[in-house]
Amino acid sequence: MRKSACVALGLGGAVIAALAAGSAMAGQELGQPLPQRAPEKVYASVCGYCHGTNVGPIILGRKLAPALIKTMVRSGMNGMPSFRPSEISDAELNDLAVWIEKSKANPKEKGK
Ligand code: HEC
Repeated sequence: MRKSACVALGLGGAVIAALAAGSAMAGQELGQPLPQRAPEKVYASVCGYCHGTNVGPIILGRKLAPALIKTMVRSGMNGMPSFRPSEISDAELNDLAVWIEKSKANPKEKGK
């Protein structure tokens, strides 16, 4: 009985040590923000899902004011979802809003 308890404890310790080593080896610090994404990447992977595909209005090439874009992204409206800073950081949103304002219309996009 005492022996098997010792073996069980030993195994548990080995598993904990392996887990600790595994997370250290992954090289990713928990609680650290992800690197900032370029505005065209955010647009393509998040906004372009709806805008330019007939779901949301066309927003490229319309010189939309950055303040309007930022309000829409943080607050949402009807079919437009809101996004938290953990999804799109403030720095990413600032760059994205300016990038959209200055963007040219993309003739491949569909919508009105
Ligand atoms: C799930 C689909 C969806 C996604 C994803 C989405 N939008 Fe929208 N968006 C909409 C819809 C639908 C509207 C129209 C809302 C309304 O007027 O009622 C809209 C409206 C807007 C408007 C106002 C446009 C105007 O003509 O006044 C802006 C600006 C905007 N979205 C920016 C963004 C940005 C930037 C992103 C990416 C971070 C994004 N949206 C992601 C669906 C989406």
